[in-house]
Amino acid sequence: MAAWRIGFASMLLAYAGLAPAVFSPPVTAREGMVVSDHYLASRVGASILKQGGNAMDAAVAVGYALAVVHPCCGNIGGGGFMLVHWHTGEELVLDFRETAPSQIKKTLFFDQAHHLKPDAELGYLYVGVPGTVMGLNTALSRFGTMTLAQVMAPAIELAEQGFVLNRYDLKNFLKAEQEILAQPNVSQIMRPQGRWPRPGERWIQPALATTLKKIRDQGTAVFYQGEIAAAIVAASAQDHGVLSLDDFAHYQVYWRQPVRCQYRGYQVVSAPPPSSGTIVCEILRLLEPFPVARLGFHAALTTHYNAAAMKQAFYDRNHYLGDPAFVKDASDWLLSDKRLAKLQRRLQVQRNRPVWHHKPANTSLHTTHYVVMDKDKNVVSTTYTVNSYFGSVRIAGETGFFLNNDLKDFALEADQPNLFFLVQSTNNVIEPNKRPLSSMSPSLVLKDGQVLMALGAAGGPTIITSLVEALENVIDFGMDIRAASDSARYHMQWEPDVIYMEPYAFSPDTISLLQRMGYRLQENLFDRYLYWGQMASLLVEPNGVIDGASDNRHPNGRAVGVLTVNRIKSKQHALAWLQ
Ligand code: DON
Repeated sequence: MAAWRIGFASMLLAYAGLAPAVFSPPVTAREGMVVSDHYLASRVGASILKQGGNAMDAAVAVGYALAVVHPCCGNIGGGGFMLVHWHTGEELVLDFRETAPSQIKKTLFFDQAHHLKPDAELGYLYVGVPGTVMGLNTALSRFGTMTLAQVMAPAIELAEQGFVLNRYDLKNFLKAEQEILAQPNVSQIMRPQGRWPRPGERWIQPALATTLKKIRDQGTAVFYQGEIAAAIVAASAQDHGVLSLDDFAHYQVYWRQPVRCQYRGYQVVSAPPPSSGTIVCEILRLLEPFPVARLGFHAALTTHYNAAAMKQAFYDRNHYLGDPAFVKDASDWLLSDKRLAKLQRRLQVQRNRPVWHHKPANTSLHTTHYVVMDKDKNVVSTTYTVNSYFGSVRIAGETGFFLNNDLKDFALEADQPNLFFLVQSTNNVIEPNKRPLSSMSPSLVLKDGQVLMALGAAGGPTIITSLVEALENVIDFGMDIRAASDSARYHMQWEPDVIYMEPYAFSPDTISLLQRMGYRLQENLFDRYLYWGQMASLLVEPNGVIDGASDNRHPNGRAVGVLTVNRIKSKQHALAWLQ
């Protein structure tokens, strides 16, 4: 072969090896970064940072703004987890997960023949007491420097003056088309002119603006002891629900210690039960002895080790974790060296381990994650949700905001699949005053005590596997944060016994190698989703530049930096310092 041909061929190979270089580069900035699933909310956060607010001021502003501009997911009618890393050395998780009402009973969900009633007959029964308002306000008073009025001002303006909808906003609206049409007061808000709005039209939410102003002026109490609680309780009583004023009055948020683990010399920090950071850690710890970097990105063996670790860890999640007020926190045991060593020996067998049971058998996705870093490198990483798109698709009276259906995260019966096909034990069966186990897990990675990455995702159980894969993509495969979150994903959750894969995740020969190991692979998660797990993430380079990445899967998302650094080329594979 002529020399030029060899040169050309090897050049092609070199580019093939750098395939992820086709990803867009992250947004780079020196003095702050806000990444969220809506560009308007990211801009709100960046403007708070520019006004001199810190990461918490910006995070609370983004939390309220997302409730206005991204109402499928951003919310004041849901709940979530906020991971805080502060320059003072404090590292905490705020648990503002929803709680089941005190009058909830399993029997309410079933008819006389013990069949689950259709959602239309369950109305408010899946609505948990929302935690977002108390969560955001509590976090602001502990870490913020601005007043509630200052950080809520942009959200109020967006609700009152409206914002121009684009086609992605409208695409989201239509994800719950039938459910919205079924509720006259919801339909009136979403279709103010009696038809779906069109791209380019301004959408105004006067009722939501009024509610936000009440929260601004009267604080948390108006939501939990005042007229907002009263409106929700009254609407719940009209529509099969059992929420009471007492449930609101007794609602609490909790500051919890994060769960921590080491992965290849990096410290991973994540959200403890009732979230699932323990499981992110378990998968990573199980993987540690296996040389995935050498085996290669999405190679058959790499995938086997990951899938087998995911399968084990999801079994453990579904059986051992739950609300710590009801279930002893099993994180230390699940992550103990002795136990992990035993499980790692099982992973060495290069075959899919058939689904096992501890004892005889006893959807739609929506959530949103956002991260903020300020110039002092304080980080706030929040995942919050109403669960499905627009949650229960219920708005109480004139309150103007969507209520969650997060009680669908419970098992109604042990060992029966829930909304996300998670088959869970009695630990996560619905009970009065209990919090449903969540997959949300906002996470951080530290190197020598400094923040290297902050990341989180939407996507129910796929949040856990998306986070693990993004961490591996950076730490093992040297990708930048944008490529790490945009790359094709796969997901395994013990049951169903399937590796779900996004398009182009594997080559045909890799698929056949995995099939020979006994794995079943399938596109279309839960037969419905081609892609999943929108991430919002950032990474701090050794020179202090912050790289922000909003997942390509969500075109309305944006990373907005403060004092941006213009780079013409992606820093793909420039992260050699990580190895
Ligand atoms: O807490 C959980 O695990 C679920 N309620 C999260 C739902 C979710 O992520 C849906 N989103 N895309």
